[in-house]
Amino acid sequence: MGRLLRTGLNAGTEAPRVIGGEGVYFHLADGRRVLDGSNTGGPLGHGHPRMAAALREAAGLPMVSEGWSWAGRDQAAEDFFEYGLNGEEHWAGAVRFCLSGSEANDIALSLAQALTGRQPIATRERAYHGLVGLSRDVTTQPHWHGGLAAPEAVGGARLPFPCAPVHVLPAPDGALYRSAAEAAANPPRPLYERLADAPAMLAQSAAVILDYTQGGFYHDGDYQDAVAAIARENGALWIADEVVTGLGRAGRPFAFQDGGSRPDIVTLGKGLGGGSISVAAVLLSKEVVKRLEGASWQNYGTLRGHPLAMAAVSAYLRILHEEDILARVKTLEAFYARRLKEIAERHPSVSRVAGQGLHWTIELHGPNWRQWLADTPDAPVASRVADLALQKGAVIGTSGEQTSLFLAPPLVISEAESATLLDILDQSLDLADREHNRMMEAAQ
Ligand SMILES: Cc1ncc(COP(=O)(O)O)c(C=O)c1O
Repeated sequence: MGRLLRTGLNAGTEAPRVIGGEGVYFHLADGRRVLDGSNTGGPLGHGHPRMAAALREAAGLPMVSEGWSWAGRDQAAEDFFEYGLNGEEHWAGAVRFCLSGSEANDIALSLAQALTGRQPIATRERAYHGLVGLSRDVTTQPHWHGGLAAPEAVGGARLPFPCAPVHVLPAPDGALYRSAAEAAANPPRPLYERLADAPAMLAQSAAVILDYTQGGFYHDGDYQDAVAAIARENGALWIADEVVTGLGRAGRPFAFQDGGSRPDIVTLGKGLGGGSISVAAVLLSKEVVKRLEGASWQNYGTLRGHPLAMAAVSAYLRILHEEDILARVKTLEAFYARRLKEIAERHPSVSRVAGQGLHWTIELHGPNWRQWLADTPDAPVASRVADLALQKGAVIGTSGEQTSLFLAPPLVISEAESATLLDILDQSLDLADREHNRMMEAAQ
């Protein structure tokens, strides 16, 4: 046991030991250079020269808490509206900066409770919204419960208590690829049928929060518009959790732009500071800003909106705009879709592939994720595939689940680097195929 308390994503396997990075590569302690294939916090890769220069320049700025005004914070808000929200100004009201995606969601959800006078909140199944307070409550992936996971012999899983009751909607459908077994087990159901319980749930809820990647469920405009309409009719706010997808990863500035409805609140984080600093944001619609008039929002944070973070936000937004990064993501999206479909069709272990922009989930056949509490030291198959991929030269993430792998490379990755990443995934899935074939033989 070292001095540093560790947490890990890939249960049962060693995390990569990173000592440096450059471009889309990590440098590891064993001297190797490996592709960074799943890093939602690093949209510009590592050591982007313009980001590094902006941070060097910002290093001498004063320490100004959120309670004091700072011109760089106003500038970051202006830049966010100009470069990030371009075309969305008709409904977007004002932005507030904070520290992490989890915190942004907790702030948004507690504001929704205060505005509506309701305690329950709603999300969709297999969501991840964070690890603090209300954001943890609406995290419905069972293993990210925020408590302790341990084998039965050392106490088993011990969970914390929720802050609020949570209603869980079905996830949106949609996939690039579904195996015959997966399609037979989960036949598509019409939206009105899947959302039949939503009006009753949202009539009790302060808000419904939807994200666009977690658990391998991506954006579906019809689903979004249906949930948004039900929320409006029933007095609940709609929070778009764009912590992963905001500002680029979905191949457009925001995932919600693919639907016609617009959220009451948007949360952002992860890459908002270009991957160089912890910074997140809560954007309120004009309507919500109006509802705050005459009231003071009673919370404050010492390090929220810190000058260094604000400089990083402004620098990232300008790089995104000037280097036309969204256009590259859109071009690469088609490349990933084509290659991932081929890979899925070749590997019997793959049950489903879904994604958009530069975020893709590869779901393997295997145990039901609903029962996974990570309470075993044994590495699940997804972690072992990720381990093999690391040996072959790429970091591929698992979200800590048993059967789910995801790709989320830096938005600046090239097509040649993407081809290498996808080849490594392709080869590593042979391990899952062998396991899958053994299981199928044993079942006969
Ligand atoms: C959709 C979504 N929301 C919120 C969060 C929480 O963000 P953070 O880890 O920065 O607290 C995550 C993290 O993975 C996420 O994927």
